[in-house]
Amino acid sequence: MNVLEFQKQKSKTKLSMVTCYDAWSAKLIAGTSVDSILVGDSLAMVMHGHSTTLPANVAMMELHTQAVARGLAGSNKLLVADLPFISYRQDLKTSVRAAGRMMKAGAHAVKLEGAKGNLEMIAHLVDSGIPVMGHLGLTPQSIHQLGGFKVQGNNPAEFERIHHEAEQLEKAGCFSVVLECVPSALAAKITQDIKIPTIGIGAGPDTDGQVLVLQDMLGLNEGFKPKFLRTFMSGAELMKKALNDYDTEVKKATFPTAKESY
Ligand code: KIV
Repeated sequence: MNVLEFQKQKSKTKLSMVTCYDAWSAKLIAGTSVDSILVGDSLAMVMHGHSTTLPANVAMMELHTQAVARGLAGSNKLLVADLPFISYRQDLKTSVRAAGRMMKAGAHAVKLEGAKGNLEMIAHLVDSGIPVMGHLGLTPQSIHQLGGFKVQGNNPAEFERIHHEAEQLEKAGCFSVVLECVPSALAAKITQDIKIPTIGIGAGPDTDGQVLVLQDMLGLNEGFKPKFLRTFMSGAELMKKALNDYDTEVKKATFPTAKESY
């Protein structure tokens, strides 16, 4: 699915997106019906053990995007890569360079957070042939300003601001926008009022699609249970059982058998 096909799905079939940070899970996702993949800067937390996404940098995002693109070889998944914290807030030249590195690493589009101060740069990226996905609501790169991972757009002024920013992102040329942790009513209104697909995470059922962090939806992120998350597999339990079974068989010397030996 390319960016244009992704856009055409608005109001037709809901779009599915998951994060992915490495080649082997990309290869696995390539064999599923999931539409698109995000190399999210959440990799700083999930893969590198940081407590926020702020430590992600362009080199890190580039390396993981390259790995995911290799894993997706021959598949038709739309691959979006996050521009990390501050990489698109210095000047136009630096932003273009960062976005260019993601595209050369194999991404089909980049995602960046917020509207204020980004609109001119988004238009320039789009004019340079780089499709841009916006991200509004809970924008994790601003976590210290937001005071934590909290629902955004709860009061009328914030509701109006986020709605207006979605319209601005559309006007600047974004092909889609992620809405993270906003009231369902706000996500529904934005989805109705703009022509580009909205992809929700903690934004209720009325967006044009949904995105989840792969490890979260597979139940691999033990103890992480926000209201919006549904786990589609008990991944951590299954993995621990397999590891304990392996350990037991090794200790009992029942693995490997003659059949498993040369
Ligand atoms: O980095 C990320 O994983 C994201 C999604 C949560 C949308 O931005």
